[in-house]
Amino acid sequence: MAIKWKDTYSCNIAEIDKQHKKLFEIGSRIYDLLSLGDEFDRYDEIAQIFDELRNYTIFHFGYEEELMKKYGYEGYENHKIEHDFFVKKLQRLEKTDFDNKQTESLVEMISFIADWITGHILKTDMKYKDFFNARGIY
Ligand code: FEO
Repeated sequence: MAIKWKDTYSCNIAEIDKQHKKLFEIGSRIYDLLSLGDEFDRYDEIAQIFDELRNYTIFHFGYEEELMKKYGYEGYENHKIEHDFFVKKLQRLEKTDFDNKQTESLVEMISFIADWITGHILKTDMKYKDFFNARGIY
């Protein structure tokens, strides 16, 4: 399973697409780390990439939420509920013993990203595409 950006993931808003591409890039690096399948201790790399995923997630959700509020997007409340759900998942993931469960934690991170792409970007994010485009946001 590769985590690769496709044009069908585009929300037709340059800054949002740029941020979503960052998610794919982080996912791809996690996948590469998982594919190594060696016996080396990867704790530092796992902890560092988790930090990056968490920081990116909070930044990106905040960016979208500010944009939705600024333009009075009617789907804001429901959209934010989904964002909050993903943040809670991250908080649970953060409690994983990254040191002793290295493979499991990488698999969990991949699963988190896959859920986000298929369950949120392709469904919920897509709903604001026409709304913003109609207001000149591309
Ligand atoms: Fe791009 Fe609503 O996350």
